[in-house]
Amino acid sequence: MDVFRSAVVVALTTLALSVIDAASYNASWASLDSRPLPQWYADAKFGVFVHWGIFSVPSFGNEWFWYRWKTSNTSSFAKFMKDNYEPGFTYQDFARDFKALFFNPDEWAEIFQSSGAKYVVLTSKHHEGYTLWPSKYSFSWNAKDVGPNRDLVGELASAIRRSTNITFGLYHSLFEWFNPLYLEDEANNFKTQKFVDQKTMPELYELVQTYEPEVVWSDGPMNASDTYWRAKEFLAWLYNDSPVKDTVVANDRWGKGLKCHHGDFYTCRDHYNPGHLIAHKWENCDTVDKNSWGFRRNAGLSDYRTIEELLARLVSTVSCNGNYLLNVGPSKEGVISPIQEERLRQLGQWLSINGEAIYSTRPWTHQKDSRISGVWYTKSKDELYVYAVVLHWPKKNILELGSPHLTTESTVTLLGSDKQLQWNHTDSGIQVTFCSREEAKSNWAWALKMTNVTN
Ligand SMILES: *[C@@H]1O[C@H](CO)[C@@H](O)[C@H](O)[C@H]1NC(C)=O
Ligand SMILES: *[C@@H]1O[C@H](CO)[C@@H](O)[C@H](O)[C@H]1NC(C)=O
Ligand SMILES: *[C@@H]1O[C@H](CO)[C@@H](O)[C@H](O)[C@H]1NC(C)=O
Ligand SMILES: *[C@@H]1O[C@H](CO)[C@@H](O)[C@H](O)[C@H]1NC(C)=O
Ligand SMILES: *[C@@H]1O[C@H](CO)[C@@H](O)[C@H](O)[C@H]1NC(C)=O
Repeated sequence: MDVFRSAVVVALTTLALSVIDAASYNASWASLDSRPLPQWYADAKFGVFVHWGIFSVPSFGNEWFWYRWKTSNTSSFAKFMKDNYEPGFTYQDFARDFKALFFNPDEWAEIFQSSGAKYVVLTSKHHEGYTLWPSKYSFSWNAKDVGPNRDLVGELASAIRRSTNITFGLYHSLFEWFNPLYLEDEANNFKTQKFVDQKTMPELYELVQTYEPEVVWSDGPMNASDTYWRAKEFLAWLYNDSPVKDTVVANDRWGKGLKCHHGDFYTCRDHYNPGHLIAHKWENCDTVDKNSWGFRRNAGLSDYRTIEELLARLVSTVSCNGNYLLNVGPSKEGVISPIQEERLRQLGQWLSINGEAIYSTRPWTHQKDSRISGVWYTKSKDELYVYAVVLHWPKKNILELGSPHLTTESTVTLLGSDKQLQWNHTDSGIQVTFCSREEAKSNWAWALKMTNVTN
């Protein structure tokens, strides 16, 4: 009887807790913003962004191709179409060439894994409205019905989950440039919600239920409010009832004026990298190609960021409490071009030696050094170590730092080696004598690990 009674109590308690739990967030920002950030995201630091869609077919200019072409007859996009395609050729005509002929999701998974990325975010649907999964709300304008005849979202999700520990996430554009339902709502000053109710929200729920992304990266609210989008209701569902409710993170692009104010992490603008500490978790979404998110055939070598540039952006971001989400744009065939692949593999090579200064770290008291430029700090979660990532090898192997205060107990090493480096106090900080450059294990940037740092 007692056993039965306690079983009932346990069952009722569990039920009560799950009821409380299920009701824990309501559709208000006060409530949604009270949700603690899932820690995997704070620890991950580095992810890969993938922009892929019909824009990968013309592969010219950037992923805003359709919009630029249709909204200006004097743009390079309009000229490109006039010069190369017969009159009457439509954007939809590009879809048949989106074949994804050489798309091997296992190869992508291997490249992402070797980059050291802890999460990946794929454009499930960009502003063109074409879905990379067979959405029933995007009939005949999805990857199963026209183009590759494959479920690209599902294939990548499976490959990532099968062979890596990378967390799978999805980008989704709320608006669509030319969707007549959206244009009708817009013409009604967003007083009607046909597009939201018949298209974008049903498909977003479908996307989350089908693929269980643990990052929901929303984009393109344009000048419509979160109320128009029914975004707060979606997020309350995402956090309370969705299959990813305990682990999912969502960004801040859910309505006009919300960027940088709400959501699990801020994406204040593209390439956002403020250079100082932002207390709320944020993300710097950045690109290997300086001028485009989608692959473009007219990019030259100087359009691609060097590994040194990418590392500077990664470490400054992480030092200031950001995550770094680096974009690659695969070709219409589904190939990540060798230069973009190389950058990812170089990041992984660097992280395999210096990852301790990046993954699972927290911001330190200082972000950049007070004395010299090109040095960014992090600390270990247990606060035992402070790391200084040094972007330029010091002249004569001697580095003077202004920010850390050390004690006689302190040790200083370069990641990749156990060898203790000599250090001295100076009038304005410390001076560290590096090993020779040939002895250093790392390339491109170097991470000092310091113990017993007092501020
Ligand atoms: C929603 O949650 C917030 C914060 O917890 C609370 O202040 C507010 O009263 C709640 N609103 C409703 C309608 O329950
Ligand atoms: C471009 O030219 C066509 C044909 O003259 C015209 O119908 C269209 O309105 C023009 N578009 C813009 C954005 O000016
Ligand atoms: C995934 O993580 C587990 C546990 O940390 C580890 O044993 C395994 O090797 C990892 N797998 C890959 C492919 O990295
Ligand atoms: C939204 O922006 C578009 C173009 O950017 C404009 O045509 C439209 O009038 C705007 N609507 C509102 C309600 O501000
Ligand atoms: C440290 O300081 C002492 C005394 O000022 C000096 O003799 C020594 O050369 C310095 N060592 C380094 C590595 O700078």
